[in-house]
Amino acid sequence: MLVLGIESSCDETAAAVVACGKMMSNVIASQIKDHCRYGGVVPEIASRKHIEAINSVIEEALADAHVTMKEIEGIAVTRGPGLVGSLLIGISTAKAIAYSLNIPLVGVNHIEGHIAAAFLAEKKPDYPFIALVVSGGHTNIYLVSNYHEFHLLGQTLDDAAGEAFDKAAKLLNLGYPGGVVIDKLAKKGNPRAFSFPRAIKDSPDFSFSGLKTSLLTMLKKRGCDFTEEELPDVVASYQEAIVDVLVEKTLRAAVSNNVSRVVVCGGVAANGRLREKFAGEAAAGEIELFIPPIILCTDNAAMIAAIGEIMLKSGRRDGLDLNAVSRWPLTTL
Ligand code: KG4
Ligand code: ZN
Repeated sequence: MLVLGIESSCDETAAAVVACGKMMSNVIASQIKDHCRYGGVVPEIASRKHIEAINSVIEEALADAHVTMKEIEGIAVTRGPGLVGSLLIGISTAKAIAYSLNIPLVGVNHIEGHIAAAFLAEKKPDYPFIALVVSGGHTNIYLVSNYHEFHLLGQTLDDAAGEAFDKAAKLLNLGYPGGVVIDKLAKKGNPRAFSFPRAIKDSPDFSFSGLKTSLLTMLKKRGCDFTEEELPDVVASYQEAIVDVLVEKTLRAAVSNNVSRVVVCGGVAANGRLREKFAGEAAAGEIELFIPPIILCTDNAAMIAAIGEIMLKSGRRDGLDLNAVSRWPLTTL
């Protein structure tokens, strides 16, 4: 089935074509340069930029896949969670295409999309598996028993891991988005140079707000910014605190649920140190690890089309009354 996926939940306007579980195109128009001067995503600007970009992004996705709009057999669009104004641009466009071509439409949960990015790889995970979804808005561990069967095992009680990266970068004047900058700078630093807390170690849940506060306290105590020589050590140590708890709690969830496969996905799964540490520890624990390529970790529409195709083939349909939802916990339907 030839499926067009559309994603516009935050600051990326994306369209992709997927057929029989294979990615045929994946186009992403990033708005980073429009938001970076504000240190974060400005919802009003995001919506306007989605309107400007969406038609050409879809056209490019069709051209890259060497298909015409008339050949598309189904539309999958992110319904939530996300910024409602942004989501509505993707949803309205998807509805218009579905209506005009008289083809089925399905609204997709963005978190489920992130997990489905793992299905686009050559080697796909079998069920059951543990999924760590780690992004700017979520840090959740699920036991995924089957298509559409999710059991939430742990989640962040405050900030998401991506937020912890972004807030630290803001405190250190490193720019936006913080995760990418810290990832790069940390490569030159010593992860044991500074001591940062690993909160609620024994719990299956996460907490990252204390980590950010400890960086703020450190800065206040000093009374001045870190020097250029110190910064790599600071961010490497800060990053290590995040990576440690993500890896440890996810692998612990796999062991305690007797599951031998782990999927790591979402924007933070692009992090070099996280990928490296997961690879080492999963191999040591004889756990099969599935981390999508970096371009499929951060927001994209191929992941939406991938899960959309599975849903459409199973008979799931949404009507033209499909609406955006800002909050939408991933639960078994
Ligand atoms: O999945 P995503 O693109 O959007 C959301 O659904 O939130 O994730 C964005 C988050 C941001 O917080 C960004 O700083 C983080 O992913 N991120 C990274 C890296 N690339 C993106 N964090 C750490 N290292 C990276 N390389
Ligand atoms: Zn995302």
